[in-house]
Amino acid sequence: MSKRLTKKELAKERFAANIGAFCCPLCGGEFVTTDTGVRCRRNHNFDLARQGYLSLFTGRQTSHYDQTLFLARREVFSAGVYAPLIDEISSLINALGIHEPLVLDAGCGEGSFLAGICSRVQPGGMIGVDISRAGIRLATSHSESIMWCVADLAELPFGSESVDVILNVLSPANYGEFKRVLKPGGVIIKVLPREGYLREIRQRLEGVAPYSNEDVLAKFEENLQVVQSTNLKYQVNVNSLLWQSMTKMTPLSRRHQISGPHPKQITIDLEIIQGSRA
Ligand SMILES: C[S@@+](CC[C@H](N)C(=O)[O-])C[C@H]1O[C@@H](n2cnc3c(N)ncnc32)[C@H](O)[C@@H]1O
Ligand SMILES: [Zn+2]
Repeated sequence: MSKRLTKKELAKERFAANIGAFCCPLCGGEFVTTDTGVRCRRNHNFDLARQGYLSLFTGRQTSHYDQTLFLARREVFSAGVYAPLIDEISSLINALGIHEPLVLDAGCGEGSFLAGICSRVQPGGMIGVDISRAGIRLATSHSESIMWCVADLAELPFGSESVDVILNVLSPANYGEFKRVLKPGGVIIKVLPREGYLREIRQRLEGVAPYSNEDVLAKFEENLQVVQSTNLKYQVNVNSLLWQSMTKMTPLSRRHQISGPHPKQITIDLEIIQGSRA
C-alpha cells in the first residue's frame, strides 16, 4: 500500500511544480527546491512549515488581523455569506479564456475565498499570500491544492510577468508590484466595499463615519486600465450566531462598541473592478 503524503510533502510538490514563478524576497534571485523548502543562488533558505506553507516575509508582523478575527471570517464564509461573490469571480476568471491560469490572491486572509474559487475554475496553480502568519496557518487547513505563503504584497516574492490573474479582495493593494508580476494579457480583479457594505454593523458602531470607496477607486483607475466594473449587492439572513461572527470579523469592532439587538438581515454591497496593465 502506498504511503499517504503529509501536508508538507504535498506542499513541496506543489511549490516544485510552480517554482519558476517565485523569487527570493531578500535578493530577487530564482529559487530551487531543497529537501526542506526553497533556496536561492545566494543561499537564502526558506523552509516549508509543518502545515505546508512557506514564509517568505522577512519583516515584522504588522497585520491588524489575529486568529480570533480569522476564525470569525471562516465562520462567515462557511455560512455562505460570500457565496455569490465566489460565483461571480469564478465566472470572471473562466470568461478570460486563459488556459490553466496561475492565480494569485494578494491578501488572502484565512483562504476561504481562494479555496471557494479553486473548485470552480481550472487553474494551472493557485497562490494565496497574506502578511499575517495566523491567517496563512488557518488557510492551510483547506484541503484544496493551493500554495500558501506568508508574504508582503508590497514586496511580492514573484518574478516579473509571472502570474495571470491577481485577486485582491477587501485587502490593501500595491499596484506597482501587481503590474510588475502580472503577465502581459493578465488581469487584476479587485473587490472593494461600497457604501452599503455591512451597513447594519456600521450603523451600530458608535463613532464610525459612513464608508466611501472613492479614493480606492481613483487609485485603481490611476494605475490600471479598467476593463470592467460590476456592483454586487444582496442581503443575507442572520441569526445571533452569524451576527456574532460578523461583528468579530472586522478590526473596526475591536475599537468601537456595538450596540442594539441584531438585525434580521445584513447587506453585502461590493464593487468588483477588473483592470489590466495600461
Ligand atoms: C479584510 S481582510 C481580507 C482577507 C480575505 N481577502 C477575505 O476576504 O477574507 C484584509 C487582509 O489583508 C491582509 N494584509 C494587510 N496588509 C497586507 C500586506 N502588506 N501584505 C499582505 N497581506 C496584507 C491582512 O492580513 C488581512 O488578511
Ligand atoms: Zn536570495
